Amino acid sequence: VEVPVICVDGPTASGKGTLTIEVARRLGYHYLDSGSLYRVTGIALRRAGLAPDAEHEARIAEIAHALPLCFSEGKVLLAGEDVSDAIRTEAAGMDASRVSTLPGVRTALVDLQRSFRKLPGLVADGRDMGTVIFPDAKLKVFLTASAEHRAERRHKQLISKGISTTLDSLRADLEARDLRDSSRSVAPLKPAQDARLLDNSHQTVEQSVGQVLHWWQEIQ
Ligand code: C5P
Repeated sequence: VEVPVICVDGPTASGKGTLTIEVARRLGYHYLDSGSLYRVTGIALRRAGLAPDAEHEARIAEIAHALPLCFSEGKVLLAGEDVSDAIRTEAAGMDASRVSTLPGVRTALVDLQRSFRKLPGLVADGRDMGTVIFPDAKLKVFLTASAEHRAERRHKQLISKGISTTLDSLRADLEARDLRDSSRSVAPLKPAQDARLLDNSHQTVEQSVGQVLHWWQEIQ
C-alpha cells in the first residue's frame, strides 16, 4: 500500500509547524518536523565540541547519521536528555541552517526522514519535503508569508515564552536564513514543480488549514 504524504515546505517562520500539526491532527496522520532533525544535529555537534563548518563535514555527518534520538509525548530526547526547548532558540536555528548546507549531513538524514512515512499517513514540514524527501507526494504545499508578517509572528512567539528580542534583529536573522536556505547548492529552498503556493500573510491558521484539507479532499 502506498502511504499518503502531504508536504508543507516554505521559509522560516511561515507558520509551517502550526499548519502541519493541525492538518496531521485533523486527518489522524503522523507528523514530521524535519527542521528539528537539523536542529538536534546542531546541538549534538556543539556537545561534541564541533562548529557547524564544512571543515568538520565528515564527522558531523556521522553524528547526524547516528543521532541517539527519541520522540516521546511531544518531547525530543537526545541520548535521553530533553532538548525540546534547547532546539527552539534562535542560536539553534542558526546552527541548524549552517549544518543543513552540508551535503553529507543532508544525505545522512534522508532515511530517518523517510522512516516517518507510516500508515495511515504523514504530514511533513520542511524545506525539501516535496523536492527531495517525498518527491512522489500527492499534495505539496509551499507556504509563504511576507518577511514582515513572519518576523512579527516569531517575535510574538518568543515574547510569549519570555525570551526578549527586537523585531529588527529577528527580521535580519530570518532574511539571513532564507538567503542561506535558498542559495545552497544541495536541496535549496524552492517550491517543487507540482507544489501549490499558499500565502498566509492575511490568513488565520483556520483558513490555511481549511485550504490544505480542501486540496487534500479534492485529490482523493
Ligand atoms: O524549520 P526550522 O526553522 O526548524 O529549520 C531549521 C533549519 O534547518 C532551517 O533554517 C533550514 O536551514 C534547515 N532545514 C533544512 N531542510 C529541512 C528542514 C530544515 O535545510 N527539511
